[in-house]
Amino acid sequence: LQVLSVASEAVPWVKTGGLADVAGALPAALAPHGVAMTAMIPGYRDVLGRLGKRPRTAHKWPDLFGGPARLLAKDGMLVLDAPHLFDRPGRPYGDDAGHDWPDNWRRFAAFARAAADVAGGAAKGLRFDLLHAHDWQAGLAPAYLRFAPVRPGAAPVASVMTIHNMAFQGYFPAEIFPQLGLPKQAWAMDGVEYHGGVGLLKAGLESASAITTVSPTYAREIRQPDFGMGLDGLIRSRAAQVHGIVNGIDTAEWDPARDPALVQRFDAASLAGRAANRAALEAEFGLAASEGPLFIVVSRLTWQKGMDVLLEALDHLVWLGGRLALLGTGDAALEAGFHAAAARHPGRIGVRIGYDEALSHRMQAGGDAILVPSRFEPCGLTQLYGLRYGCVPVVARTGGLADTVIDANVAALAIGAATGIQFDGITVPALKGALDRALALWHAPEDWQAVQRAGMAQDFSWHRSAGAYAALYRRILG
Ligand code: ADP
Ligand code: GLC
Repeated sequence: LQVLSVASEAVPWVKTGGLADVAGALPAALAPHGVAMTAMIPGYRDVLGRLGKRPRTAHKWPDLFGGPARLLAKDGMLVLDAPHLFDRPGRPYGDDAGHDWPDNWRRFAAFARAAADVAGGAAKGLRFDLLHAHDWQAGLAPAYLRFAPVRPGAAPVASVMTIHNMAFQGYFPAEIFPQLGLPKQAWAMDGVEYHGGVGLLKAGLESASAITTVSPTYAREIRQPDFGMGLDGLIRSRAAQVHGIVNGIDTAEWDPARDPALVQRFDAASLAGRAANRAALEAEFGLAASEGPLFIVVSRLTWQKGMDVLLEALDHLVWLGGRLALLGTGDAALEAGFHAAAARHPGRIGVRIGYDEALSHRMQAGGDAILVPSRFEPCGLTQLYGLRYGCVPVVARTGGLADTVIDANVAALAIGAATGIQFDGITVPALKGALDRALALWHAPEDWQAVQRAGMAQDFSWHRSAGAYAALYRRILG
């Protein structure tokens, strides 16, 4: 079974968020299930620079949306080299100042068109049974397979559309429609048209053989207006084809017993090994040693992640005797807010604005608890890394956070099932209440360690979820 996975980012090549972790991990995770998955990503400047010696050219387009393009094959991965679209300084979706590229619709329409060509058999020697598209950047690929296939009379290539985040929909004005190379009938309610414009994610959701999202709870939530963000009606209408498959993590990359980023490695039987990591983290963030717990945050600093609510609960966190080490980038106002909180609480709150993979590992190893107060969270990966590293997750009860953390209520504690703390409703009082509960648990060290160990014993490897994807592909292909 040959599957072409189409995503705008994938580790180790390019990453802005969890999508890259997932797209990067799926091919290896699916292999034991008899699925040969090839990932296809855009040839951003950084990616091209790291491709190294002479990748093979697997296909050429003389003119792909305004310029020549090539499909490069390297280590079982496909890279779309289209210099007029992707070879520029800056980030995958915008310039260094954070403004989206004005031609994003063209960049990702071209990417999707190329992917549909490849899945449809345009590249000699490459054949695929199914195309798996991720998020809005790949959303047009299922639409091209449906409305403008490479081989018109042939049986259509099947596709899966995965939603990693309903908040990003790839919505563009109607004027782009004539330039997409789609037939007139694609301009329809059950096609690419969306509120009078073009919806790239919407096009994929209407056209794919099946829809998945990255946790069962989020799959239910997006049927509701608050979480569906305009696409809830579509999700309800396709409910029978919508599946929630929770993300796994790369357990080799995230393994506290082997992680080269750590000051001292440890496992569930040697939790004392965390102490050296904690001391190193305190030093790195300029935090004073203390009896209280060290909370960490590794996150995009955005409204989705509830970071504004966290800001308002920080004085309480410090008052309780807690400390905070935060790593993240995002909204300027939130960045400034965390800097101000650190200035107000020297030695108690340490802030690092930036993106630092190795530091994120050291934080999971040295922090006592990770805060994830998201307003919505399709899956979330940092709480999974926390579970694996004995860094107890304190999370909002939403999406994948609800599915992956077991709240330390009396019953769960009594049977040793608890793995973290959940709270309902993203409000300052609710978050403060969760912090109160975390502190109470912290002051019962035996309970705290039981929660750490229960988390570390959980299996968040890809095995089960990859099996679910493989089963879905087979069902679709009959
Ligand atoms: P999202 O994709 O919505 O941002 P996830 O929890 O699914 O949230 O994935 C975020 C990924 O990005 C995780 O692998 C996390 O460790 C990583 N990450 C986020 N911010 C940073 C940062 N500032 N430095 C290093 N890694 C980060
Ligand atoms: C998105 C979501 C996040 C999820 C990730 C990978 O970025 O915000 O919850 O874990 O995709 O699926």
